Amino acid sequence: MHFLRRHWIRQFGLAAAGIVLDPIRRAQAQRSQLPRDPVSPAAEGPSRFCIMGDRTGGAQAGVYERAVDRIVAERPRFVINVGDSIEGLRDFWTDIEWVEMKKLWRRYGAIPHYSTPGNHDIWSADSQRLYTRFTGHPPQYSFTQGSCHITVLDNSRSDTLDEAQIAFLREDLQQHRDAPLKLVFLHKPFWIPFLMLKSGEFSLHKTCVEFGVQWVFSGHLHHLWHLERDGVQYVSLGSCGGSMERGKTRGEGFGHGWFYHYGVATVSNGQLALRIQELPPPHGEGRSFAIGEWWENHPSDSLRRALATHPRGGWSAVSAPPPAPVPGA
Ligand SMILES: [Fe+2]
Ligand SMILES: [Fe+2]
Repeated sequence: MHFLRRHWIRQFGLAAAGIVLDPIRRAQAQRSQLPRDPVSPAAEGPSRFCIMGDRTGGAQAGVYERAVDRIVAERPRFVINVGDSIEGLRDFWTDIEWVEMKKLWRRYGAIPHYSTPGNHDIWSADSQRLYTRFTGHPPQYSFTQGSCHITVLDNSRSDTLDEAQIAFLREDLQQHRDAPLKLVFLHKPFWIPFLMLKSGEFSLHKTCVEFGVQWVFSGHLHHLWHLERDGVQYVSLGSCGGSMERGKTRGEGFGHGWFYHYGVATVSNGQLALRIQELPPPHGEGRSFAIGEWWENHPSDSLRRALATHPRGGWSAVSAPPPAPVPGA
């Protein structure tokens, strides 16, 4: 993963160049606005959808399949992923991989499924054509479900987000300015270095603030991140089957965001609450918590305490049966 290290170093450098660091208390104040209590399925509001993290690279057998089945049991209004559905990167096998992927997605039945392009899904013009053919969506597109307007952007072949994508986003948001809840999905979380330096000096963030986008979702790193700035929540979902070897070789685990999970977003009155749901055994411990209990790539002290005092000991399970179906928003 040397390329990742180089990428982050380069991004930190870029961000630092044009940035005046804000006082730490500003970040702390933003953080204090986050919901602190875990959201239990029973307390969920009138509509929910699920968000899947990376299946690849290095898909672990059976994990994604288990996540799909759990999500179907959650009965969401729709499902969206953050990219890296196939291993890809080899032109010869691409269409076969998509055919297999589509078979798996058929388990969703009538639940609409949306994709975000990852670097394992699109790496060339040919792979882009196959992505569009098999997912049914172009690399960048948008859709509205209930009170949510979602814009999906493509940074599968970029380490940042190019100006054409920003232009697409701005035009889309202009057309949906009145949507109560606006979300953006893009695969690579290039926003992490900027936000870690307390900077909002990048086009995506400025556009989100200007148009009132409340949430940005990414993936790619295979471990969970959560940051916030100017009221915009940024979440990079961790693995939904993609390799976690990088964390393992560092001796890291749940406490650094390395666990198989998906997101459950509950929408009510134009607000979104996000619950992170770990997979149950044998792929995890079924732990569940509100995203407000996670900061950067670590659990909050209160979440650590809550899990440590659970009867099962240590990082204990907080799993629950799937909630009952709810009407759409
Ligand atoms: Fe990726
Ligand atoms: Fe990935």
